[in-house]
Formats: sequence, C-alpha cells, structure tokens
Amino acid sequence: MIRNTNEDAVIRVHGLNHFFGSGDAKTQALFDNTLKIRRGEIVIMTGPSGSGKTTLLTLIGTLRTVQDGSLNILGEELNGMSQYGLTQVRKKIGFIFQAHNLFGSLTAFQNVRMATELVGMQGSEVKPKIEQMLTRLGLDERIYYKPKSLSGGQKQRVAIARGLIHNPRIVLADEPTAALDEESGREAVTLFREMADREGCTVLIVTHDNRILDVADRIINMVAGRIKNDSDVRQTEQICEFLRKTEFFTDLTPRTLAELANNIEIREYSGGDRIVTQGDEGREFFMITDGRVDITRLEAEREQPVTQLGTGAYFGEVALIKDQPRNANVTAIEDTTCYVLDREEFRNVVDSSDSFESELRKALFERN
Ligand SMILES: Nc1ncnc2c1ncn2[C@@H]1O[C@H](COP(=O)(O)OP(=O)(O)OP(=O)(O)O)[C@@H](O)[C@H]1O
Ligand SMILES: [Mg+2]
Repeated sequence: MIRNTNEDAVIRVHGLNHFFGSGDAKTQALFDNTLKIRRGEIVIMTGPSGSGKTTLLTLIGTLRTVQDGSLNILGEELNGMSQYGLTQVRKKIGFIFQAHNLFGSLTAFQNVRMATELVGMQGSEVKPKIEQMLTRLGLDERIYYKPKSLSGGQKQRVAIARGLIHNPRIVLADEPTAALDEESGREAVTLFREMADREGCTVLIVTHDNRILDVADRIINMVAGRIKNDSDVRQTEQICEFLRKTEFFTDLTPRTLAELANNIEIREYSGGDRIVTQGDEGREFFMITDGRVDITRLEAEREQPVTQLGTGAYFGEVALIKDQPRNANVTAIEDTTCYVLDREEFRNVVDSSDSFESELRKALFERN
C-alpha cells in the first residue's frame, strides 16, 4: 500500500545492496532494498533463515559499513559517514541482539548501567531507573546477580533492559522474545509499545514469535535478500473494515480482502482537484472514504452536471469493465480521500467475486 503523504521517516533505506566475501567467494546478501520507517512505529520483520534480516538490522544499526545504496538514519546518511559520525548515531540506538553479549564479570545492574554510561547519562535518577526497568521485567530478585547465575530468559531480559535504558530513538531487536515465556515476552512487548507511544521511539523487531505479532504497526517479510511484502497492519484493518461494509466485497474471503487492502493506494484531493477526465483511458477504480465529488459530462461542448457522490460511493468502474475511455469528469468538491485500485487488481477482484459482478451489472445498468 502506498500512502501519498509526507511522514517523518526515521529509517530510510533506498536501493540498498550488501555483499559478503570477495572474488569468487563474493555473495550478495541484500538486493536493492527500499524501506521507510516512521517515528513511533513498531515494525516486525520476518522471513526464512539466511534471508538477510540480521544483515539489514546491523547495517541500520551502524554495526556494518554500507557498501552500496542509501541508508539514512535520523536524517543522516550512513553511506560514507566518518567513524565519529557513526558513533554519534549509534548512541541514539538501542540494541537487543540474539547473542546477548552480557559481561560475565558484571551484575545485571552493572550491565545495564554500562549502556547509560556509554551515552553519558548521569545523575541520581539513573540508579532507580535501572532498578525499575529490571523490576518491570521480572528481575527484581536478580538485580545484583551475574549472568552465570541467570537463566537464558533472564539474561535475555537483562539485554532488553540494557537496550532500552538510555531512551534510544530507535530500538533494533533480533529475536528479543525467543527465550522468554509468555508473560515476560508480553512485558517486553508492552515496554516497546510504551516507548513508541510516549517517546516516539521507533522499534524494528526481527522475530518468528507469532505471539507478539499484535504489537506491530507494520509487518515486513524478507525473502532471499529482498523485502517481499510490507503491510501496514492497522491501515490494512481499516481498509478491510471499509471494504467489508461495501456490498461489493461481502463474499471475499478475509485473505483476499487483506491482499486487496494491501494493493490499495490512498489518495488525497483538495476541493477543485480533477480526479478523472472525460475521454482519458480508464486505469483505476475509486472508492470515496471521505469527502464529496462532482460528476459532470461534456455534452454539446458544455459541461453538464450528472450527480454528486459522497463517502462510501465509488466511481471509475465503467471504463474499466467496458475498456472504454472515461465517460465523465470527476472533481473533488471538498477535501476528499479515495481508495484507489488499479485496473489489473480491480479485474482480479471482479473475477473472484460473484457479488461484485452482480453489483457491477446493476451499477452499469443504472448508470447507462
Ligand atoms: N559475516 C558473514 N560472512 C559471510 N556471509 C554472511 C555473513 N553474515 C551473513 N552471511 C550470509 O548472508 C545471508 C544473510 O544472513 P543473515 O544473518 O542476515 O540472515 P537472517 O535472515 O538473519 O537469518 P536467521 O533467521 O537465521 O538469523 C546468509 O546467506 C548468510 O550466510
Ligand atoms: Mg538473523
């Protein structure tokens, strides 16, 4: 789905390639990836083993050097950036990685405190903050234990606390809940959500843990080094909800509906904007989710009013079904938002839905 509004992207990836090895052994791990993640967004990335998830995550985290393409983090281009610049960016990121890398000689508390020292956090509020975070993650009894006396899940929770304690602008987490039971996994995810909502922290989680999918604003699927699918969960839900209320789509399965929703473009118009021009080739189908439009037709060189359509109405189907040029003009009367489906996608739906066909026939009949 494409949203035609300018939102503040905190992570902007464009045309990103990545290679490992050299000479004959050179292999490509990432292929031409493009991705935008906004402030306060929680994105879950899934995909088969070896598909490039960790590679992408470490590139975003400045832990690997960008070789080819653009990677912009918090407004700064990483490709070609100095070591000093990379270190500055890195301080604004929280890492929760598969191998927890806790220091064996330090207690849970000290491990977390190191993260605060690295970014220069000081003052009397740091200690209670660390204790509070560890307590929330169910480690109140274990705050002063060293890693060797902690279980795998407990170590994982220390790593989560360490990744979040310095109020990072971006959190990068690689399977953060894999070693956790239901309850502590839920607590970790709740913490992510709070940071995203309260502080506008952006969270990118690589996971196969389907117990936490509900926290995601978007789910990205990575296959063989390429982002295959990128869906905005809430947006898709909203669109599905809208489509479901439209008689047309009642007999589509939820799956088809979700696929359809993913292929819809949301377009915004201002009053006076021409949406469809008579005589043009029909390439798209429109549903009005908000606003009003004027339909007029040029007859004897004069623009004659035909009708007005409002929220919930649709237009543009005649030209698509009959393969004819547009038979009318459509102009936004006020600020109007439309869901737009391209011709091919529209035809797929028509073919897969009986109710759609019969509804269309009725519509065509009435409008002729
Ligand atoms: N340091 C490295 N040297 C050479 N090849 C590497 C290196 N790191 C990763 N690769 C290769 O790059 C590809 C992507 O690896 P990556 O670790 O990003 O996958 P992943 O999606 O995180 O997998 P998993 O789910 O198993 O963690 C794989 O083919 C892997 O073998
Ligand atoms: Mg990995």
